[in-house]
Amino acid sequence: MILVTGGAGFIGANFVIDWLAATGEPVVNLDKLTYAGNPENLASLANNARYIFVKGDICERALVDALLTRHHPRAIAHFAAESHVDRSIHGPAEFIRTNIEGTFTLLEAARAYWNTLTGEQRDDFRFLHVSTDEVYGSLGPHDPPFAETNPQQPNSPYAASKAASDHLVRAWHHTYGLPVLTTNCSNNYGPFQFPEKLIPLVIANALAGKPLPIYGDGMNVRDWLYVGDHCAAIRAVLNAGQVGETYNIGGWNEMPNLTIVKTICALLDEMKPDPAGRYERLITFVADRPGHDRRYAIDARKIERELGWRPAETFATGIRKTVRWYLEHQDWVAHVQSGAYREWLARNYGARQ
Ligand code: NAD
Ligand code: DAU
Repeated sequence: MILVTGGAGFIGANFVIDWLAATGEPVVNLDKLTYAGNPENLASLANNARYIFVKGDICERALVDALLTRHHPRAIAHFAAESHVDRSIHGPAEFIRTNIEGTFTLLEAARAYWNTLTGEQRDDFRFLHVSTDEVYGSLGPHDPPFAETNPQQPNSPYAASKAASDHLVRAWHHTYGLPVLTTNCSNNYGPFQFPEKLIPLVIANALAGKPLPIYGDGMNVRDWLYVGDHCAAIRAVLNAGQVGETYNIGGWNEMPNLTIVKTICALLDEMKPDPAGRYERLITFVADRPGHDRRYAIDARKIERELGWRPAETFATGIRKTVRWYLEHQDWVAHVQSGAYREWLARNYGARQ
């Protein structure tokens, strides 16, 4: 079996569901259930004997030790993190704690556990660290996309905390021989993404007739990957990645934010027309994110060449599926839009008008 951390969040939940469907191998999911963690994401596994949920914090060493001893996983897939850049600007402390101290705690627990293993079990054990393209910093308009060999130049507290965790993972391999793998992926979108991130926020706001906030001039560029493709890439790395290596994962799909928002508006015009007019009328330019990285782009040739992974979805197919999912799961959106979510909106957007 494998131990997943952060499996009740957006990518983690998609990963656990896809993993069980693709492999049938049991999963223990350790998740603290912060505002971003939602057991409802895994409701489809309620009667699945191969799925075990444990509510807990990756910073609690005794808990992690006990889980490793009890369940004896062959791998750890580490997703748990504070993940939203704007929140890291308003309050970086939790990012330092979970992303850096939490990863350190997991690495130490994994090292102690791995040292108890022998033979094939020791050879086959893997610690897979799920990281981000944001660790590489920001690209100019004509720079080549990020390769695994690019220097890390993180610019936000979130990116810095993820870069620090990448460095810890690297050092635990180099110094102690822990069999690690690291993935650095671009922007994901798809089902179960918390509506603080651009795509689900725009869908939710549009359906509520609220402004669609665009930071700055809307020309910041991201590379977008459908979450199911990210999950498939992680499975490929876990199964066949070279120990100690880093793999960049991306969709070859760079787009400015304004294009993303207009695409969503056009899909909503088609799937759920608003009698008040076209959704684009709601687009509102607001004050920029401090230190806003201008462009991310991923060179994914290494994972394609070495592991044969390629994205199955184009942006056109993935975004259509995603908009449809949010239209069909408005209850899910309503549940996560709790009091705490509304406080966040007031805090982040109140000052941007
Ligand atoms: P998310 O914020 O949706 O989910 C994070 C999950 O981690 C939540 O379930 C939360 O409860 C859990 N968690 C937080 N702190 C914890 C702690 N101390 N102990 C245990 N659980 C804890 O995040 P996401 O978007 O699903 O991202 C998952 C991972 O993928 C993160 O490591 C992120 O850096 C990375 N990543 C995300 C993207 C993206 O576009 N979302 C892209 C590349 C990489
Ligand atoms: O690149 C990978 C990263 O992608 C992940 O590591 C992060 O966990 C994930 O949150 C994401 O970071 P971004 O900052 O790129 O994602 P976000 O959805 O917050 O913003 C996408 C772009 O849209 C970014 O340029 C900021 C802009 N934006 C965002 C929001 C929330 C807006 O213009 N308006 C908004 O209201």
